[in-house]
Formats: sequence, structure tokens, C-alpha cells
Amino acid sequence: MKPPVIAIDGPAAAGKGTLARRIAAELGLPHLDTGLLYRGVARRVLDRGADPRDAAVAEREARALLAADLRRGDLRGPEADMAASAVSAIPGVRAALLDFQRHFGREGAVLDGRDIGTVVFPDALVKLFVTASVEARARRRFEELRSKGVPTDPETVEAELRRRDMQDAARSVAPLRAAPDALVLDTTTLDIEAAFAAALALVRERM
Ligand code: C5P
Repeated sequence: MKPPVIAIDGPAAAGKGTLARRIAAELGLPHLDTGLLYRGVARRVLDRGADPRDAAVAEREARALLAADLRRGDLRGPEADMAASAVSAIPGVRAALLDFQRHFGREGAVLDGRDIGTVVFPDALVKLFVTASVEARARRRFEELRSKGVPTDPETVEAELRRRDMQDAARSVAPLRAAPDALVLDTTTLDIEAAFAAALALVRERM
């Protein structure tokens, strides 16, 4: 049997990260949050004082990315969000990160991101596309930021989510979209426990 790869894609704050982590723990598989790779590259570019849209710099930093970059404490927040989205539209950056992701999944894994089921593992055993209304996603992200004491307001959070989704869906390389054979899970009206139960049921059906 081929090692099972479970691909979980979807827009920001739809719950895919939490679902991926829990499914991986339940099935005893390693988990990779691929957004961290783009966030790590973005941070390295920002550290150099460069523009995250600068393809030459971003590609060089993607090739130099280290495991330690993925453990930094400053990978989340509005600046990192938008910079990650910007570097992720650069073909050379995506190409530089592809081998690492494929290697990570070679013995079976759960990976979450935007293009796992479409580009990284087009023949994944299970593909989930986790989504939710932009209002529900903005509400969750706002609550998350508030609980961490980050000063923000719901309107700003929603506007930034919309902008990032649009940027991720409109890019020409590996845009955010559901693979034709992905199972779509809409978490708009589900809490995390209900979403996990639904996701696990879909995964088990395919395994
Ligand atoms: O998932 P997360 O919000 O951490 O991802 C940060 C950014 O990285 C996304 O907005 C997207 O632009 C990019 N990304 C990507 N492909 C992936 C994962 C993330 O382009 N597989």
C-alpha cells in the first residue's frame, strides 16, 4: 500500500490547521503546516529589509530556509500574513519549497496549505477542501487575536482576510482552489469538535 498522504487545503482561518493537526494525531501521521514555509521565507526577506515581492531575494531566501526559521515567534500577525502571501506568488519560491514538502510526505503525512491537493500531492489518497464564509472566518480570527491581546477590530480583520484570499486565489502559480476530486467541508456553522468529527468521517471513508 502507498503511504497515505492527506491533503488539506482552503482559505485563511477556515480551521484547516487545527483539523490537520488533530487528524494527524488521530491517525499517527506526521503533520506539516506548509503556510509556515512561506511565512519563514517572508520573515527572512523582511529581515533583509527587502520587498516581499522582490523575486530574486525571495527565491534566494526560500533556498536558504532553515528548520529554525519555522520556529520563530514572529511568523503570525498582519505583516507576516501579507508578506507570506506576496512571496508565495513567486514561482521560484514555490519551486524551491516543493521538494521539501514532497520529501516530508514520502512515508505518509497530513499536509495543510493552499495547493497540496492540486500541485504538491495531486495523487494524495484523501483531499479535503476546508472552507467557511468570510464572515465566520473573520470572526474566528478576530477572537483568536483578541484572546492573544493583539489590538485590532473586526472590520480590519475581515478586510485583511478578503485581501489575502483574493491575492492567493488570483495568482498565476498554484492559486488557491479546490482540486476537482477534493471533498469540500464547509465549517461555517460547525464548532471545532463537529468539524473534526465531519473531517475524520470523510478521511476514513477514503482510507
Ligand atoms: O496557511 P497560512 O495562512 O499560514 O499561509 C500563509 C500564506 O502562505 C497564505 O496566505 C498563502 O499565500 C501561502 N501559502 C501558499 N501555499 C501553501 C500554504 C500557504 O501559497 N501551500
